[in-house]
Amino acid sequence: MSTLERTLGLIKPDAVRAGKSREIMQLAELSGFQLLAKKTLQLSQERAEEFYAEHQGKPFFPGLVGFMTSGPLYAMVLGREDAVKSWRGLMGPTNSLTAREQQPTCLRALYGTNGTQNATHGSDSSASANREIAFFFPELQPDALEGPEATATY
Ligand code: PPS
Repeated sequence: MSTLERTLGLIKPDAVRAGKSREIMQLAELSGFQLLAKKTLQLSQERAEEFYAEHQGKPFFPGLVGFMTSGPLYAMVLGREDAVKSWRGLMGPTNSLTAREQQPTCLRALYGTNGTQNATHGSDSSASANREIAFFFPELQPDALEGPEATATY
């Protein structure tokens, strides 16, 4: 029996700016993900620093926060069997330049540009997914994400 798992996906500001949000959501659905909830929002510097707190102090941190606050993004709750691993597989390697060489049909190869502007984010574990879903969707109780009607709310 298959079990629905949830993960948090982001369509980052570069892909939103390029007008690719809808296409990415369609590809997610074609890959078997249910779009359980979605919203568009603009991250403040403080919220971006909080979201990426584990990377504070790394050389890329200021650039990452600057990029993630550079425009609106889409946050999505994605449901599927093995959602965390499957979404990361669909995204491909972190750096879009590497992605283009290694996995040309992945999201980061198709929609990203380089190591900073890489189009999408996905939770790296089920525990991270729970934390990240609560970060972007504090108004959603876990049970509210079980049915297809949850999508209509957003
Ligand atoms: S690490 O250090 O291995 O844990 O980092 P990694 O998992 O590769 O990446 C964590 C997030 O940081 C982003 N990142 C970068 N942003 C800007 N510039 C550079 N050079 C860079 N390197 C990594 C990367 O896209 C990850 O963001 P998310 O949103 O999690 O995909």
